[in-house]
Formats: sequence, C-alpha cells, structure tokens
Amino acid sequence: MDKKVEELQKRLALALEGGGPQRIARQHAQKKLTARERIRYLLDEGSFEELGALVTHRTTDFGMESQQFYGDGVVTGYGTIAGRLVYVYAQDFTVFGGSLSETHAEKICKVMDLAVKAGAPILGLNDSGGARIQEGVRSLGGYADIFFRNVQASGVVPQLSAIMGPCAGGAVYSPAMTDFILMVEQTSYMFVTGPNVVRTVTNEEVTSEELGGAGTHASKSGVAHRTAPNDVACLEDLRRLLSYLPQNNREKAPELPFIPGEEWREELGEIVPDNPNKPYDMLQVIEGIIDRESFFEIHADYAENIITGFARLGGKSIGIVANQPLFLAGVLDSNSSRKAARFTRFCDCFNIPLLVLVDVPGFLPGTDQEWSGIIMHGAKLLYALSEATVPRITVITRKAYGGAYDVMNSKHIGADLNFAWPGAEIAVMGSKGASEIIFRKEISEAEDPQQELAKKEAEYAEKFANPYRAARRGFIDEVILPRETRRKLIKGFASLEHKEVVSPRRKHGNIPL
Ligand code: HXC
Repeated sequence: MDKKVEELQKRLALALEGGGPQRIARQHAQKKLTARERIRYLLDEGSFEELGALVTHRTTDFGMESQQFYGDGVVTGYGTIAGRLVYVYAQDFTVFGGSLSETHAEKICKVMDLAVKAGAPILGLNDSGGARIQEGVRSLGGYADIFFRNVQASGVVPQLSAIMGPCAGGAVYSPAMTDFILMVEQTSYMFVTGPNVVRTVTNEEVTSEELGGAGTHASKSGVAHRTAPNDVACLEDLRRLLSYLPQNNREKAPELPFIPGEEWREELGEIVPDNPNKPYDMLQVIEGIIDRESFFEIHADYAENIITGFARLGGKSIGIVANQPLFLAGVLDSNSSRKAARFTRFCDCFNIPLLVLVDVPGFLPGTDQEWSGIIMHGAKLLYALSEATVPRITVITRKAYGGAYDVMNSKHIGADLNFAWPGAEIAVMGSKGASEIIFRKEISEAEDPQQELAKKEAEYAEKFANPYRAARRGFIDEVILPRETRRKLIKGFASLEHKEVVSPRRKHGNIPL
C-alpha cells in the first residue's frame, strides 16, 4: 500500500509543478501569477478541491506523446468565496502556453456542467495561447463545446471571466458570452486577430496593448467591464463582484446586516445646481443614496454618459443605471444605451432590483449616431427595461426629455415606483427648442424676435419644466425631497420584495440586436 500511496503522491507532486520551475519563473518575470497561485488568492483559504489534476492530452502527432504534463494546461475544481460555493478553471500558461486541447476543454466543460447542476457561479481565469496547434480541429471542437455551455448557463448561474494573459482568436468568444470580463492592465490582451494579421490585412501598425489591452477594452470597445493593475487586485475584484450576486437565477443576492438610521441625507439637496444647464456629478447622488461606500461600478470608463453598477441599499444588493450629466450632459447615445441595456438584463436574470436615476436631455443627434444605429441601440435599452420583471424604481433628479423620458424606466414601460425631485423637468423637449418650433410664427413676426423667444421660452418652462404635470397624471407617483430619497427607496424596494410578474408564454423575445 505504501508504494501505491507513494505513486499517487509522486503524480500529484508532478501535477503541482505545472510546466516546471523555468516556465514558472518566466511567468513570474512577466508579473503574472501561476494558475494555482491565482486560485489560492481567489478562493477562501484551504477551500479548493481540484478535479482532473491527473488528466493528460491524447495527441500523438508532432512527438506530443512524449510531452505530457498532468492537468494539461488548466487547473479546475471548486471551492468557496466568502463561504459560498463557486466552480473555477484557471488556464496554466506554463503548460503548452495554456493552449486548449480536447482534454483541456473537457476539463472546463466538466466544471461548467457541475456549476449549472449545483447552481453555483463559474469563474474562468484565462491565460492561453489559444487552440492547441498540434491538435487541429479537435481543439476547435473543444472551444465550441465550451461556447455552447456558456450559452446554456447564461442567465442560470453567473459566469465571470478574468483575462490574465493572452486571449486571442476564437477563444475570445467564451469570455464574450459570460456576464462580466475583468482584465489585468499591461499583462492581458484580447483580440480576434493579432497585430501581425492586422498589419498584413489593413497595413495598420498597432501593438497588442493598443489593439486589445485592458485600457482599450475598458474605454474604447466596452469588452472589459473592469480593469485591475495586477493579478491580485483583479482576483480581489472578482471576489467583490460576487458579493453582490446570487448563486443562481432561483436565489436572491446575499444581504448584509443593516442597522436602520442615517436615512435622511441632507447632502442630496445640495448637488443639483440651480442652473439647469450646469453639470453635476451623478456619482455624488448615488453615494448619497446608497449604504456608505458600497458602490461597485461596472464599465466606469466606457460610455461615461451613463453610470452602471451594483450597490447596497439597506443591506440589499441593487443594480443602478443613472444618466451622468458630467459627460455629454447625460445624453443617451448608441454606446450608453447598449451599456445600460446589458447591465439591466444581467440584473433581471439574477433577481437584482433596479434603481434608475434620470437626468437626460434626450438622444444624441448627428450622422455619427444615426449611422451607427442609435435607433436599434436605443431600442435595446427600451426593450431591456420593458422586459425586466425585477423591482424597478425611478428617481428623476432633473431633466427627463423626449423619448429618453420613456426609455429611462418610465411608468409606462413597467417601472413600479416613479419619484421625481421638485426641480425635475419632464417634457417633450427643452424649453428653448420647444418654443422655437411651436412659436416660430410669433417669434419671426415679433419686433424683437430674441425677446419674444425668451418670453415664450419662459412661458413654456413655467408650464412644463416641473414634475407636476406628470404627477397629476400619475406618471410620477410622488414628488419627493432629495434628502428623503434614501428612505423612500429603502421602503419602496421593501414593498416590492415579493413582486411577481406573470409573462405571456413564448420561446423567447426578439431583442433588437
Ligand atoms: C500549442 C502553444 C500555443 C498553442 C503557445 N504555445 N501557444 N502550444 N498551441 N496555441 C507554447 C509555445 O510553443 C511555448 O512552448 C509556450 O507555449 C509559451 O509560448 P511562447 O511563444 O514562448 O510565449 P510568449 O512569447 O509569451 O508568446 C505567447 C503567445 C505565442 C503570443 C500566445 O505563444 C503565440 O503567438 N502563440 C500562438 C497563438 C496562436 O496562433 N494560437 C492559435 C490561434 S487560433 P515552450 O515549450 O517553448 O514553453 C485559435 C483558434 C481558436 O486559437 C478558435 C476557437 C473557435
């Protein structure tokens, strides 16, 4: 028996070595942790249970029979984060560059299947040279097996991806179909075709970092939801993100203990300037409403004219979508609509109530927007909010103009409670634009057209630049003081705790993509 135990220990020790000390040293020299070190930082201490440590590839071409490494370039298993079960896979760049073979893919599929059966999140730590070149189509098939599972698991258990090294070619489509992508700055990149192919096909000179680094994807493409300066910070981010999420679509997110008090927040009354054309920082409004320091922003550097993120309100997890008047006056455009729509759908999949803060002058005009398809992108947000059945509360802090009023979680598209601050302006458009159109004749025939315009503008503002027309109709449930907003929202969401919506039977809707 001793011999048999020794044999097992020898094999497991080899598995722990990955690609060997030299390749591990190279990984460290590149400021990257190894797959096992990453898992250690990610999971609760001592909680990791590995599955498939002794798997090896089955390739016989190109002398691969003699090159065998236990684990085959990916460490898989389960453990806990803050005491909650998660399934994890971490690609091991020290073994064949973390490239994906048939068996490597089978290991990932196994933990994905277990995660769905057990109703627990699946976390993927990506660091891979792509398809195992020696394997050909078997490796491609392996990718497709993972893609298929990503789609089956979508909306069933949260799927989170960390990109912690290369992720190129078709391999990008697995993270792309997960719920959130976090990237490490300087050491990770994602692209469908790399700089060499780009140079050949388009004559563009571009580095990997410029083409698909963390900064690029966090600000230009929106592929990355968050970035972190190094591996450890990225793994901490993953842990924090999970704390806002439920284990699966049948559960609610965990609650933190909440001690009532501090519900009146005077500072909320001092944020919105008197001048309606002056910007202010909607993040201050968010901070003023939520439990202190609980905001976890998603897509902070992408489409900054809208804010999305998780927070806690009275200890409960909520999702926030908010126009940001600091950027482009908080206007809705193609990217901000897509950003908010995707976030809304995530919250709805996983029973996270939505708070929508509105200060929106309308949709962004221009050829750029029209030709980039703002009609379809704006429709995504309208669709996503309309179909969301989680508790939904709106607060209009200032402007709610035009179609954007409808889109931003209006009563008409199914919001449960709609509040407005006393300075809210709810109208078809701003007073100046409106007056120029409806009083065109009077203004052009006036002795002093400028003066006439100012008069008409004031008249229009007096009539519509307030929340009371909407309140009279019941489109606004209550006009509330800024300082009582937090209290109203805590009570409002509590009243909706057991909200139920029975939707008509259908296979699935057809969101404008
Ligand atoms: C097999 C691979 C590999 C791969 C890297 N390695 N990529 N082995 N298949 N795809 C091996 C290397 O041979 C090397 O082995 C070790 O991993 C480390 O690689 P290096 O090149 O030394 O590392 P580095 O200089 O850091 O460069 C990393 C890299 C480069 C940029 C990722 O390795 C690279 O360009 N690899 C090929 C990428 C690629 O073309 N993949 C296929 C894409 S097609 P040793 O033994 O020396 O340590 C694809 C299709 C997916 O992925 C489709 C899905 C639908």
